[in-house]
Amino acid sequence: LLLGGAAAGVGAAALVGADSLLNTRSTPPLGETPGAAAHGGQTVPFHGTHQAGVETPPQAHGKFVAVDLAEDVDAEKIRRLLTLLSDDAAKLTQGKAALADSEPELAFVPARLTVTFGFGPGLVDRVPGVPAPAWLKPLPEFSVDRLRPEWNSGDLLMQICADDPLTVSHAARMLIKDTRAFGTVRWTQDGFRRAYGAEPDGTTMRNLMGQVDGTVNARPDTDAFETMVWEPRDNPEWLHGGTGMVVRRIAMDLDEWDRLDRPGREESVGRRLFDGAPLTGGTEHDEPDFDALTPLGFPRIAEYAHIRRARSDNPDEQVFRRAYNYDVPTLGDEGQDAGLIFVSYQSDVDLQFVPIQRRLDELDLLNEWISPIGSAVFAVPPGCAEGGFIGETLFP
Ligand code: HEM
Repeated sequence: LLLGGAAAGVGAAALVGADSLLNTRSTPPLGETPGAAAHGGQTVPFHGTHQAGVETPPQAHGKFVAVDLAEDVDAEKIRRLLTLLSDDAAKLTQGKAALADSEPELAFVPARLTVTFGFGPGLVDRVPGVPAPAWLKPLPEFSVDRLRPEWNSGDLLMQICADDPLTVSHAARMLIKDTRAFGTVRWTQDGFRRAYGAEPDGTTMRNLMGQVDGTVNARPDTDAFETMVWEPRDNPEWLHGGTGMVVRRIAMDLDEWDRLDRPGREESVGRRLFDGAPLTGGTEHDEPDFDALTPLGFPRIAEYAHIRRARSDNPDEQVFRRAYNYDVPTLGDEGQDAGLIFVSYQSDVDLQFVPIQRRLDELDLLNEWISPIGSAVFAVPPGCAEGGFIGETLFP
């Protein structure tokens, strides 16, 4: 019975073409499924030189799922798993039902769905003869870290993002089902930004501390971005066209943050809360003047300010940030469990990310209210052409 239902669902999905996805009819003729409204029908191509979900303007919702592979999963099984996953991700991102989709109607609103795969060291090591990039390992320990094992590491990462939470949930369910015979879910992190349409496109996101977060970040269509994210550097050949990914779950102590006054909050970062402009004036995207002094002779942007500490003149020390907020329900007097799913893309994690995190570890006033509780590093392989699969370059 169950199988019959799934098969019928796949059949119905095949009947629904791309045109009807954009159709907003409220009473579809028999045999068709109501499609998505203008925005829900938007798709991001799955196939291409690079995987989607890195350059893609961040969608409103993001789910990060890390899977641990079972002990008996060898290279051949990895290949099968990646083929399955790529096939379903290719379909779902285009608003089509997954292969054995039990709820095919949920697939018909892609809402810019992207699925981005990342490989942990535990996956790459299982493919004989394939070298791992030197940086594909846990980050060094930092004194600010309060890492909990349940948020660390993972063999396979799926970053599932869309502008609709139902779409994300369904895609995740389909993809996790694909992984069932190969491993178990190690952790899942749910993140959000403003709802689609709540702010004009291109508005920099706000984090839960109220700060404008993401102002100084390379734009995907620039040379700076190309170098930061896609430049192969010393990466092995199978990773060319791909990049490195850091996922850090950073808890915010919002109750303590509540006790700080507004000037203190602005000084901790070096930017105004209202519009994200530097404390030395201007508007959000104006350059901060790090030499400016207060009338008393102190630096206007303090030595301990996050933006002073995070900035580097070294062109190698740059990362592309694509973070999401998290806020998990709590009970009783547990206090709020909220923070930032910090995600950065860079082609060499050791060269680009680690020195920044090291500086922030040494001095950053924000450390008073934030603590990294999870940390993972993944290699994001290149994209694939139609008929190919993500990770195929591991199997030349
Ligand atoms: C800038 C917040 C963690 C690297 C900023 C800004 C804010 C902010 C408000 C200023 C606006 C902007 O340019 O985006 C936070 C919060 C964090 C966090 C709340 C943790 C919960 C990190 C981490 C790193 C990082 C872990 C990297 C290791 C940067 C960089 C900039 C920045 C590179 C731009 C600095 C510049 O002006 O050149 N962050 N951040 N941040 N942050 Fe963070």
